[in-house]
Amino acid sequence: MQLLNGVDTLAVICAQWGDTGKGKFVDYFAQWADIIARGTGGANAGHTIKAGKQELTVHLVPSGIVHDKDGKINIIGSGVVVEPHTLYEELALIERTGMTYNHLMISQDAKLVLPQHLVLDRVRESSAGSGKIGTTGRGIGQAYADHVNRVGLTVNDLLNPDIFVAKLRRNLEEKVRLLHGYDREVIREIMQDPLLKDGLYYSEDCFFDIDAIVSTYMDCGVRLKAHIRDTDSFLRSEVTKKKILLEGAQGNLLSVDYGTYPYVTSSDCSISGLAKGVGLPDGAVDLTLGIHKAFYITRVGAGPFPTELGGEASAEWCATANRALEDELYPEFNVNSPTDFAKGIGIRRAGNEYGATTGRIRRTGLFDVPITRYSTQFGGKKAILTKLDVLDESEEIKICIAYQYEGPSYWLDNHLLERGDILEVAIPRPEVMRYCQPVYETLEGWMEPIGHIRSFDQLPLALRKILDFVEQKSGIVVKIISVGPDRDQTIVRD
Ligand code: IMP
Repeated sequence: MQLLNGVDTLAVICAQWGDTGKGKFVDYFAQWADIIARGTGGANAGHTIKAGKQELTVHLVPSGIVHDKDGKINIIGSGVVVEPHTLYEELALIERTGMTYNHLMISQDAKLVLPQHLVLDRVRESSAGSGKIGTTGRGIGQAYADHVNRVGLTVNDLLNPDIFVAKLRRNLEEKVRLLHGYDREVIREIMQDPLLKDGLYYSEDCFFDIDAIVSTYMDCGVRLKAHIRDTDSFLRSEVTKKKILLEGAQGNLLSVDYGTYPYVTSSDCSISGLAKGVGLPDGAVDLTLGIHKAFYITRVGAGPFPTELGGEASAEWCATANRALEDELYPEFNVNSPTDFAKGIGIRRAGNEYGATTGRIRRTGLFDVPITRYSTQFGGKKAILTKLDVLDESEEIKICIAYQYEGPSYWLDNHLLERGDILEVAIPRPEVMRYCQPVYETLEGWMEPIGHIRSFDQLPLALRKILDFVEQKSGIVVKIISVGPDRDQTIVRD
């Protein structure tokens, strides 16, 4: 593939709010790579991997693990937050499926997710009212906060019991003081969750049973020991000698530094955060490919989403409903339904937009050029477009080409933003985005199946026109498109 000529280190990141189908492309490029590494996020991510006829959902292990049997090295980098039981259970599942993980390396400097992180994440969300972020409840933000607060633990502490206990005690003291501000009953209930070992860590007098935590975490240390390594140094020594694939997690718009803050995750999931999270300088990455879902987009959790089909009604519905209820109440909704709310559900169903980690239903909206322009300013202009086949039956394709600002006057960047102003690049702040009305252009749908097509030139004319339009408006250069879930349902434009 010409695209990879001269490339030693390739990164695949999501240019939207996650869930753009990275797993397929990590699997696709893993055939080329010798090493596959993750550098951000934790068990908030979720990807489905295929092992023969079986499919399994993993959260922490890189998608490249299916190639372990071919000697490829998979790395969980130092920027990842690791809940060791979740990791161990994933490895056990992988083994039961007949796959191997002999070449898996876990960074000794990856951050540990502890029971108090999950409890605080959940208790804060449950008492946040309208300020909810809609987190995955996996303790991600709390684990990163501890790192920045300089009170975090690392995977290496699992191998040094005395140090683990001393750090844990210090960390818990602070957390227990914090938890006294919340309802004890709620905390007790949260701690009955299977991810918190069904109440095993709960103690009546000080919330946490330290002995139970120490014993289960030390047990994980013993089980994972053979895989715990200094992966940052290892990758720095291999860069330019080996083909390295960096696997992004979440997406640019969920980056704590560049995303739609505060409705973001707690790591920098842009290319900069990813490179850093595996111990490499940005300059070590030869090619970054941005994955964009097209020509609809999705987001999970709370936060502004200008092109959301059905607007607030959709956001509210997605915050509480589930797939079964949706199927029961709205079996007839499809991609051509006459109202936006119905069309949103139709697209969700056609695209199977139901979360792998939480089972939550994803909010659906239309392709958004202002967001694409913003997101690709820091990587991902060379684009992979995924899920194009989902809208095969759509009579029209509406693309948001700009926003009209409809909010109160707002001072920003030495300029007063005023009602009626047109924005061509998204400003990822809720106080602006919540007032952005999309300006759409409508193009004709292609109205035929494309899943069997393997070359750009054979794509229907109407679809090629839309691709040209999107490239021209947003500045992305489409290098690859995905026309179905299988590896070979991929068209490369060399
Ligand atoms: P957290 O990462 O669990 O703290 O959640 C913060 C926000 O990021 C929430 O809106 C989540 O829904 C979102 N989020 C986290 N991980 C993913 C992901 O892998 N895909 C999509 N959204 C995610």
